[in-house]
Amino acid sequence: MLPEALLSLLWAALAAAQQRTTLPLNAVTPVSPTTNTPAFNLPVSSSLDITITLCPDPGTSPPRFFVNNASTGVTPSSSGGDNVFEIPLLTGFGNWTGLFPQGGSLAVENVGQTAFEIGVSDSGPLHESLAIPPLLGDTTSNQALLFSAPFGTLDTTKPSWPNYTLPSANLTQQPPPSNIGNYTVFIETTSSATDAALRPPACVLRKRQSLGRVANTTVWQRDWAGWRTQWMIEGLTASTNYTAYVIVDNNKVSGPIHFTTKSASFSCPLVTGLSFCPTASYAMPLPPPPPPATFYNGNNFPAAISKTILSGLTNFTTSLQTFACGRDEYSPLVSCDDCQREYRQWLCTALLTRCGEPSPSSPDAFTSPVPSPTQTGIAVNDNGDSDNDDNAPQKVFSALVPMSSGSPQRNQDFPPMSTDYRVLLPCLETCTAVQRACPYFMGFKCPLRRFNAHASYGVGYVDSGKDGVEGGGAVARAQDLYGNVWCNA
Ligand SMILES: *[C@@H]1O[C@H](CO)[C@@H](O)[C@H](O)[C@H]1NC(C)=O
Ligand SMILES: *[C@@H]1O[C@H](CO)[C@@H](O)[C@H](O)[C@H]1NC(C)=O
Ligand SMILES: *[C@@H]1O[C@H](CO)[C@@H](O)[C@H](O)[C@H]1NC(C)=O
Ligand SMILES: *[C@@H]1O[C@H](CO)[C@@H](O)[C@H](O)[C@H]1NC(C)=O
Ligand SMILES: *[C@@H]1O[C@H](CO)[C@@H](O)[C@H](O)[C@H]1NC(C)=O
Ligand SMILES: *[C@@H]1O[C@H](CO)[C@@H](O)[C@H](O)[C@H]1NC(C)=O
Ligand SMILES: *[C@@H]1O[C@H](CO)[C@@H](O)[C@H](O)[C@H]1NC(C)=O
Ligand SMILES: *[C@@H]1O[C@H](CO)[C@@H](O)[C@H](O)[C@H]1NC(C)=O
Repeated sequence: MLPEALLSLLWAALAAAQQRTTLPLNAVTPVSPTTNTPAFNLPVSSSLDITITLCPDPGTSPPRFFVNNASTGVTPSSSGGDNVFEIPLLTGFGNWTGLFPQGGSLAVENVGQTAFEIGVSDSGPLHESLAIPPLLGDTTSNQALLFSAPFGTLDTTKPSWPNYTLPSANLTQQPPPSNIGNYTVFIETTSSATDAALRPPACVLRKRQSLGRVANTTVWQRDWAGWRTQWMIEGLTASTNYTAYVIVDNNKVSGPIHFTTKSASFSCPLVTGLSFCPTASYAMPLPPPPPPATFYNGNNFPAAISKTILSGLTNFTTSLQTFACGRDEYSPLVSCDDCQREYRQWLCTALLTRCGEPSPSSPDAFTSPVPSPTQTGIAVNDNGDSDNDDNAPQKVFSALVPMSSGSPQRNQDFPPMSTDYRVLLPCLETCTAVQRACPYFMGFKCPLRRFNAHASYGVGYVDSGKDGVEGGGAVARAQDLYGNVWCNA
């Protein structure tokens, strides 16, 4: 027999336990500020991921969350005790993973006026700040081409001797996984007040209105990182700074990234979805696509341009296969498939001309200094005069070359443009990657940095300009998360 006092305590605990909600497994429970139930039971499970998200953004005095993973019905609190843990919050987000063999309980202190969500899951956290940001393809004056972070696992089996088969010139996309999840893009104008590093939780983003209109959503295998959801956003405003997020499965947020729409006079349309050049998703100097299309894809892209690229790739592949790929090795690191992949990437960036505008953080790249009319290429830290003083300007300029209307295009399969435009040159690294990956007998040579490389390539952005130290360039990348694109990679 238990003493009476203990019995009544037990009954009180049981009564309290019965009134409590048990948080559902693998679901997110929103809790509004008016709810006066600060304690919940947790389901029995070998292991649970508990995640907390404050909505809206963290207030001055955020609530505190405590779990007990030994018994249901008790109210874990800041006074601690055995099996009581606090879920620490960092910028409005908290997570805790533990064992719940007898279930458990969760209590909230200092709840105030803050709404929040509790996610309980036995198969990975439901709220998450995803580490990999979305990717900007390119923009026009009123469109943006955006990609989610890559997902899924591609079949990356390498070909082998004696059946060393290289992908055909017109690549085939691998079929995407069936359960790709729910990817939603969210766009807002960049407010200078917003701390770029802070991302609003999904519960806050879901209540706001995303700008623009999603004109097309496709799943695209852009490269070997995996598939990405691709969005064509239309109805944006020219010369405006935007911030984009991707909400994954309702509660996880990837981003932010920032981008700027082009000026109203920008006349190059967007191109994407070319199976033979899957990474080419940017504005090209072409006439407007045939209506009602608002961008080019594999179906309406000019056949004359595709034909040369496919023929070039086929010829290169034929020459490459005169080598006994897979039986003989020309390098301990790379093989014919790497060579073909890098050559494809180089050929695509070289033949699919990219249009650009000065990056938003260096808007005067073209007014000061003015490049001379004979100048054919611009390198990072090249101030436009003929000497090679690499230390003059403080800003990094994109590798842009002005082109006047009616002049022959760099790739003559492109018809002349009826307006002025600027070409964004390929990064020199697209060329050096081919040299590194291909056998010497293919005779593929890149122009020298110190000689004429600047005429056709952006030099010194990714790798250093003088000696080509990998990643030693001025910005160490072709594009950043702020919408700057330095050269075409
Ligand atoms: C959980 O929170 C810790 C810091 O409290 C953090 O390092 C970790 O990445 C978080 N895990 C997830 C899945 O977000
Ligand atoms: C509670 O979780 C902690 C952390 O995972 C674990 O070390 C402890 O054994 C758990 N308690 C019980 C009773 O399972
Ligand atoms: C060679 O490999 C390709 C693709 O990997 C495959 O489709 C083909 O059936 C193989 N041929 C032989 C003879 O094994
Ligand atoms: C490439 O292949 C796709 C199908 O995978 C086809 O729709 C397209 O027309 C082909 N492109 C060219 C230029 O042959
Ligand atoms: C989106 O574009 C793809 C190819 O670019 C096309 O196959 C698909 O039909 C388009 N979807 C819509 C809804 O327009
Ligand atoms: C996908 O996510 C969005 C935003 O979180 C939501 O509005 C939509 O209902 C979800 N769709 C499905 C099918 O779950
Ligand atoms: C590919 O080879 C064929 C036959 O030798 C040739 O006619 C064609 O011009 C070559 N293509 C390119 C892009 O060089
Ligand atoms: C857009 O952002 C850039 C910096 O990235 C800034 O210099 C510029 O003033 C912003 N433009 C507008 C219209 O806010």
